[in-house]
Amino acid sequence: MGIAVLTMKASVIEMFLVLLVTGIHSNKEMTKKIKRPKFTVPQINCDVRAGKIINPEFIVKCPAGCQDPRYHVYGTDVYASYSSVCGAAVHSGVLDNSGGKILVRKVAGQSGYKGSYSNGVQSLSLPRWRESFVVSEGKPQKGVTYPISLTYSSSKSPAAKAGETTKAYQSPSAPGTTAQPVPLMQVLGTTAVEGTHTTLPKPPPSAGSTTSSLRPQPVGQRSQELDFWSTTTYTNSQNTPTNPGIQGQDSGAAFQKPGGEPELWKPGSVLLDAGFVPKTELSTQSLEPVSQGDPSCKVDLSFLIDGSASIGKRRFRIQKQFLADVAQALDIGPAGPLMGVVQYGDNPVTQFNLKTHMNSRDLKTAIEKITQRGGLSNVGRAISFVTQNFFSKSNGNRGSAPNVAVVMVDGWPTDKVEEASRFARESGINIFFITMEGASENEKQYVLEPNFANKAVCRTNGFYSFSVQNWFSLHKTVQPLVKRICDTDRLACSKTCLNSADIGFIIDGSSSVGTGNFRTVLQFVANLSKEFEISDTDTRIGAVQYTYEQRLEFGFDVYSTKPDVLNAIKRVGYWSGGTSTGAAINYALEQLFKKSKPNKRKLMILITDGRSYDDVRIPAMVARHEGVITYAIGVAWAAQDELEVIATHPARDHAFFVDEFDNLYKVVPKVIQNICTEFNSQPRN
Ligand SMILES: *[C@@H]1O[C@H](CO)[C@@H](O)[C@H](O)[C@H]1NC(C)=O
Repeated sequence: MGIAVLTMKASVIEMFLVLLVTGIHSNKEMTKKIKRPKFTVPQINCDVRAGKIINPEFIVKCPAGCQDPRYHVYGTDVYASYSSVCGAAVHSGVLDNSGGKILVRKVAGQSGYKGSYSNGVQSLSLPRWRESFVVSEGKPQKGVTYPISLTYSSSKSPAAKAGETTKAYQSPSAPGTTAQPVPLMQVLGTTAVEGTHTTLPKPPPSAGSTTSSLRPQPVGQRSQELDFWSTTTYTNSQNTPTNPGIQGQDSGAAFQKPGGEPELWKPGSVLLDAGFVPKTELSTQSLEPVSQGDPSCKVDLSFLIDGSASIGKRRFRIQKQFLADVAQALDIGPAGPLMGVVQYGDNPVTQFNLKTHMNSRDLKTAIEKITQRGGLSNVGRAISFVTQNFFSKSNGNRGSAPNVAVVMVDGWPTDKVEEASRFARESGINIFFITMEGASENEKQYVLEPNFANKAVCRTNGFYSFSVQNWFSLHKTVQPLVKRICDTDRLACSKTCLNSADIGFIIDGSSSVGTGNFRTVLQFVANLSKEFEISDTDTRIGAVQYTYEQRLEFGFDVYSTKPDVLNAIKRVGYWSGGTSTGAAINYALEQLFKKSKPNKRKLMILITDGRSYDDVRIPAMVARHEGVITYAIGVAWAAQDELEVIATHPARDHAFFVDEFDNLYKVVPKVIQNICTEFNSQPRN
């Protein structure tokens, strides 16, 4: 009897663990799979990128027809995980265009991928990527169990395409033979295990405690018993639950609202959702699996919190609670989002950087310990500080993850934010603004920069800003914020195809062009330039004219407005002479692109009307090597084969030919369209 109960208990525990691992698989499915040891190979489409698949090693079946330029491939032999899995297999020669099985193994990210042409596929170069993979013949290795369905990292449409989005499944028939324990950890960390689970076995989870999504449960669904922090720290809730926002406490000095307002607290509203780990449970931490983080939300995040005196103790605590909730909902970890915190007042200080605490639970403990610094509300200064100091490699910035800064503002800033924010965005930081209890009508006179939040973010459509009426409703912002932060495809909004390039024109000034045609060429250069957003922080334009010799007409840093650039183009004087295009490319690399900013796309647009007297092959290779994307525009006597050598691959996107100068205008929209298509299809950091 006793034994029977024990066995039953054990099997219940086992079942619980199995449920944890598989997340959503029902018992029935489980038994079915256990009874079917035969290995089936999952199938994918040609467009599936390796990065979308979490499994470190797997065999998949590719369909026919993956040898198509639509399926972008980056690298040679070792491919960036941004590449199409099947496309890379064709490129490497493991697969032909009729499809078949392949073995894929993930390997570490590289600092550079070289493009090459092989087996009918042109792969592209990529400066760096966070993860790579190699492909080989689809033969199972001895002693390795391959997943019979793949784990996808997409959080956007979990069940969109049948057969593509099945959840993780480690065949239980051969325990201990999986290739690596990593996916198991990830699954544990991102599905049912929350920081509050202890080693004590619990009864099989009910529907309420097993989530079906990869994301942790939304705030507010957890039971109160787990919230030690809120129920102990915030028991002084006898104060009148009035609305603190509209009480006129915020009037007074222009740039500093009085602090020390009565500690208001609405029982049962925000802090019951507190996610802090009860202190009594901290000792069991090491026994629990630590989450690797949500891999579908890999961002490097800096939270700028308001520590100014005016915010008051109570609100400061709500702010900390918000931070902890966001950390929890994001599922912080080395394979997912990382988060650091900067507190600002008169001056900003880093509370901790991206690598100080690399999981949600440690973060929460650290956040709890943050003390308010007081002072003014110098938000602009804080943003500049973050741009210059926070996202450094030594602070744990990974480079392969988008940089995001979330700025919390109580009321309004005491300094200007527009300039600092623009500079931050220019450096590739995606800024979110959360304004709590913004200025009311009669307070607006005190605000230094009206509409500061809109000026700080990169689009005014509301995606990057939240306006919270009242501190006590801040918790409602947790989920929307997390959703937007993790929508990494929409980030990098600060950079578009029109505002993020350094464009160098290389203009053939040889005698064959003739004065009249030269004017047409300049008109062409001006028409292309007009399409871009030009300023010292947006797109910049430079120009070189060449014959046998070369001269710098103007560098990237000379003109910072569109009218100035257009005037400068108009003033370029016709030189007349020979045509040494190769030397001109070398010269432009040296004189123009060496001075390009690291966060800019380098575009070279070369216009010529004849065959070069010197070699263009090597200069073109050097340009590619230096990350310069080259467009070659040929007119009249230009040699098409030479244009194709000069242009970036694929040539049909980067080399254009028109038979006469009067037709040059037709190329303008084509070039612009290609620049933008290519920009939008590139992976972004
Ligand atoms: C430049 O734009 C003007 C005005 O749209 C047009 O008339 C002209 O043909 C264009 N020239 C070239 C070379 O693109």
